[in-house]
Amino acid sequence: MFKKLTLSALLLAGSLFANSEVNVYSHRHYDTDKELFKMFEDKTGIKVNVVKADASALIKRMQSEGQNSPADVLITVDAGGLFQAKNQGLLQSIDSEYLIANIPEKLRDKDNQWFALTKRARVVLHTLDSTVPNELKTYEDLADPKFKGKIMIRSSNNIYNQSLLAAVIAHHGEEYALQWAKGVVANMAKEPKGNDRYQVTAIANGIGEIAIANTYYVGQMVDNKDVAQAEAVKKVKILFPKFEKGGTHINVSGTGVAKYSPNKDNAIKFIEFLASPDAQKLFAQANFEYPVLQNIEASDVVKSWGTFEDDTISMNVLGENNKLAVKIFDQANWK
Ligand SMILES: [Fe+2]
Repeated sequence: MFKKLTLSALLLAGSLFANSEVNVYSHRHYDTDKELFKMFEDKTGIKVNVVKADASALIKRMQSEGQNSPADVLITVDAGGLFQAKNQGLLQSIDSEYLIANIPEKLRDKDNQWFALTKRARVVLHTLDSTVPNELKTYEDLADPKFKGKIMIRSSNNIYNQSLLAAVIAHHGEEYALQWAKGVVANMAKEPKGNDRYQVTAIANGIGEIAIANTYYVGQMVDNKDVAQAEAVKKVKILFPKFEKGGTHINVSGTGVAKYSPNKDNAIKFIEFLASPDAQKLFAQANFEYPVLQNIEASDVVKSWGTFEDDTISMNVLGENNKLAVKIFDQANWK
């Protein structure tokens, strides 16, 4: 009897243990996420184990782990990475009425294998007294020779730029996209190096006049402990360019359930939590991202930048055009 009890107690403990965690492979690199994961742990008692790396490294790892992968959830900082994971058979459809009802179609995979959690716009920054706002209205304008020597933008191996070029391809086709990329390269103030915040700091210090960056980085620079960043951001302003026949380029941070997820129920609970009003508020307030839930407001800092219309293309297209974008960057000699 005693033995039996112990065994069933052990089995119970074992099954509780197996059900009490979720393993998250995440490319997100923002401090707020720790707080979010803690909120989920407190609410559900499910422990969140995080492996942080670039999406490409996480995808490789999931591939090599195969059916034995402990990964339950993959989180990336761009639609391109999610598309790649899906294409390689590393994700599965998520059966969640909540996610389908609340996340707009443009912001999720057509087979429900991934969902966006936050939006960010990829925008232009200029100094306060700059004439750039009179001269630049569209992404197409960035390739205009009148901006020769003025553009600060990071390298082409970065997924944010790959998705921007993927959007250019979607609007205008391959040949135009190549000419556009060549035009931007010809307009660069410097070799494309450093992250988005570096480009913003550079124009504040007189290197180039136009910086390209994701919106949340601008928010992160406000009151930053790094004095150079905090000072630089006071000297610049955001301009939301549009595509000639569309809106402002957005990309997304998003997530999917791993194909071989050992804790699938927890994985779905976790993702639904990240798309819940409480989590969306935190994404918006603490990391200056745009929530995907319609009724959650952006933070005051973000609202102070003004409003824009999202571009019309689906996030699926950013993934579909990614390979071509990488090829075109090569042809255009965008380092
Ligand atoms: Fe980022």
